[in-house]
Amino acid sequence: MDAQKLSHMDNRPIGIFDSGVGGLSVLLEIKKLLPEETFIFVADQAYVPYGKKTKAQLIDRVSSILEFFQTKNVKAVVAACNTATVYTIEEMRNRFDVPIIGTVPVIKTLATISKTGTAAVFSTPATAKSPYLDELITKFAPDMEIIKVGGSNLEELVEEGDLESPAIHAILYSELPPLVEKNVDAIALGCTHYPFLRDQIQKIVGPSVAVVDSGGAVARRLKAVLTHNNILANKSSQDEYLTSGNAEKFHRIAEQLMSRTIPIPSHINL
Ligand code: DGL
Repeated sequence: MDAQKLSHMDNRPIGIFDSGVGGLSVLLEIKKLLPEETFIFVADQAYVPYGKKTKAQLIDRVSSILEFFQTKNVKAVVAACNTATVYTIEEMRNRFDVPIIGTVPVIKTLATISKTGTAAVFSTPATAKSPYLDELITKFAPDMEIIKVGGSNLEELVEEGDLESPAIHAILYSELPPLVEKNVDAIALGCTHYPFLRDQIQKIVGPSVAVVDSGGAVARRLKAVLTHNNILANKSSQDEYLTSGNAEKFHRIAEQLMSRTIPIPSHINL
């Protein structure tokens, strides 16, 4: 790399947040694509689940997180949470002078891969009833039947880390087979907690149904935004992990879900 290009490198961290451990599924995808970046991951676990909060409550939570990121001089923020994105991203982009990359269900991908014309979005209750999701469907899949499934407690169960629990099995076995019966051939995981359940979901729906998530799209979008703003990094430092909940529990479950060791997380009051 030539000297001129190097002079434009920006090794400041990127802030990434979710209500809990779900955002780690997005972080894993981002780290694959951008290994030279450094991240500050915030899990707002004192306030999980976001999927049962009002827009005003979500704006309040996300504002606190972004104010914290400002104190850390982050160069970009990733909302690794569909619920936070669909209810707060416009307001946050108006309020904060930092590039903000959101996470939304991949409706465009559903439209590309579905052959039956019937697909599903599996999300939190708040995302399922958001006008933002309806707008995405109108824009990218106007001729499809998109079934919105958003009523379960899956994210709260994933927070506990026992992905094989009977409670998770019960929900998946009650929600998924009816979708297959309705001819659904593609399912978008519209909550960042759900990619951790991908294997089980795939097993239940069978190989003829595609199960897609947003992590790769978010990573590519982040890379494009960093490139466009000329703020890519060329040397990573140690990532930081923080939670507004129990730091020890977060540490244990995050390492299990990510299948790797991470630096000891700190507690933060947000
Ligand atoms: N992981 C989040 C999402 O993508 C929200 C989970 C929750 O707190 O309800 O929507």
